[in-house]
Amino acid sequence: MKPDVQVYRRLLKYLVPFWGLAIVVFIGFSISASTEVAVAKLLEKIINAIQHRDTSFTTIFPLLVVGLVFFRGLGQYIGGYYTAVISRHLVFNVRQEVFAKILRLPSQYFLDNTSGHITAKIMFNVEQLTAATTESLRTVVQQGLITLGLLGFLIYTNWRLTLCILIFAPLIGFLIRKAGKRMRKLSILVQDTMGDVNHVVQETVSGNVVVKGFGGQSYEHERFKWHSMENLRRGLKMTAIAQLNSPVVQLCMSMAMGIIIWIALRPEILRDISAGEFVAYITAAGMLSKPIKALTEVNEKMQRGLAAAHSVFELLDMEEEGNTGTLTPKLKGNVHFNNVNMSYSDGHNAIKNFTLDIKAGETVALVGRSGAGKSSLVNLLVRYQEISSGSLMLDEYDIHDIELNNLRTQISMVNQQVVLFNRTVRENIAYGQLEGASDEDVIAAAKAAYAHDFIMALPEGYNTELGAQGLNLSGGQRQRIAIARAILKNAPILILDEATSALDNESEYFIQQAFDAAMQDRTTIVIAHRLSTIENADRIVVMDQGSILESGTHLELLAQKGTYFQLHQRNFEE
Ligand SMILES: Nc1ncnc2c1ncn2[C@@H]1O[C@H](COP(=O)(O)OP(=O)(O)O)[C@@H](O)[C@H]1O
Ligand SMILES: [Mg+2]
Repeated sequence: MKPDVQVYRRLLKYLVPFWGLAIVVFIGFSISASTEVAVAKLLEKIINAIQHRDTSFTTIFPLLVVGLVFFRGLGQYIGGYYTAVISRHLVFNVRQEVFAKILRLPSQYFLDNTSGHITAKIMFNVEQLTAATTESLRTVVQQGLITLGLLGFLIYTNWRLTLCILIFAPLIGFLIRKAGKRMRKLSILVQDTMGDVNHVVQETVSGNVVVKGFGGQSYEHERFKWHSMENLRRGLKMTAIAQLNSPVVQLCMSMAMGIIIWIALRPEILRDISAGEFVAYITAAGMLSKPIKALTEVNEKMQRGLAAAHSVFELLDMEEEGNTGTLTPKLKGNVHFNNVNMSYSDGHNAIKNFTLDIKAGETVALVGRSGAGKSSLVNLLVRYQEISSGSLMLDEYDIHDIELNNLRTQISMVNQQVVLFNRTVRENIAYGQLEGASDEDVIAAAKAAYAHDFIMALPEGYNTELGAQGLNLSGGQRQRIAIARAILKNAPILILDEATSALDNESEYFIQQAFDAAMQDRTTIVIAHRLSTIENADRIVVMDQGSILESGTHLELLAQKGTYFQLHQRNFEE
């Protein structure tokens, strides 16, 4: 972990643009702090006036009381409001930065972290940053000014007595440090449990069909309860320490007060002090305990905020998707895998010594049992995963020399898992860079994907809002929208990774025809379960354990009587 000072300095940088507002905050709190001191001073005057039966200030005192409270309120309002303005902007800015970062993280990050934990980070942890920054600074400024004001008043009135209070300062400091360390540990734990709670909610919400169907309600509820309980327990532990902190500090303060009163009441001191002065002094000393209590709480906030800052900065510092390529060629669609190896972060070697040349316009079918590495292989082409060794060339360019976005716009991929957004059908088809597509093109793509008819039957046609993840559609309908999206993209390389697995025979037949037309002038890599969709491919590559077992046309492979032949026999029997 990076040292706190470094993290804190980085955190403070986010506040720099708000220095103008910070001055306003400072002025506001200065006004309210000076009223605190003025109250003590006013008390002195009033008591002295009573003692001396002095009536000359009868009208001015009540006005002063109201005036002081008015200015204190005004100062607090200005300080408080503008602190919040800074806080909210800080949260806004950091959230934008974190979200932008998430968009640039490699796919592996999303495999390693659950969406619940990622959400918690951007919602909860970012919010916590204000604890270490604006909240703490606000308290330091507001209460610090009051403390300074009151201390100044005390020293001015009677510096000897005031020294008695200051003797306790080191003890108070020690207590605060001690509590701080513990608080930090707990704060990290609280953050983690927040992620856990979030995770259970998201999983249950997105998987509610399985939860219901398999009677997982009580299990999920238990799990939710357990994580929430953990969150509660740790939160309370932290509160316990935070709450214990200030009574203990106040106890120290009261001891100091006791000593002051004890000394102050001694005849040799009492002699040269007026009653008003004495009361004002004791009042001001008493008033000190409030800001000091608030100041001790800064530590808790600081620890909470710093723990959050560590986690947020850790995310911001993560390595992004490598994008050092600068070339933006218009690809023809030649693909050369040359002795490619790929290992996942867990060390699993999913692609081994894979060599394959695909010519532009060719259709290659990948066949092999699940886990053979087919998806892993095509993911290399869009760089969702990076090759570990060997080379991958597109036309005459090394894949790493091509600018990442340019690369991805030229590859159109339909995956096993269809991803639909909670937007209209049209927006789902013309997604992202296809946003500006014309209505005619969208409709043509939908027609080719055999989706136009069912879309038109939806309540508002292309403007129908899809539910979360498009779950108000059938699996086959969802898949056809994804296919329409890929067709609209009209890229030189088309990858279909079990893109038709959820389709019935009839729609698959029609889509196949659309694909046949689309495949004419583009490179296509098709992965399919049903062998009928592969038979027409120019070449069939049979994979196992990340390598090529055999390759050739349908007829050649049948004649070889190898793995493909066996697969075909089994398929035929079904
Ligand atoms: N993100 C991942 N991390 C680690 N191993 C993975 C990951 N994704 C897939 N694998 C493993 O890589 C192998 C190939 O998987 P995959 O390419 O999905 O196979 P296929 O698409 O042919 O069914 C499998 O053994 C699988 O367990
Ligand atoms: Mg797969």
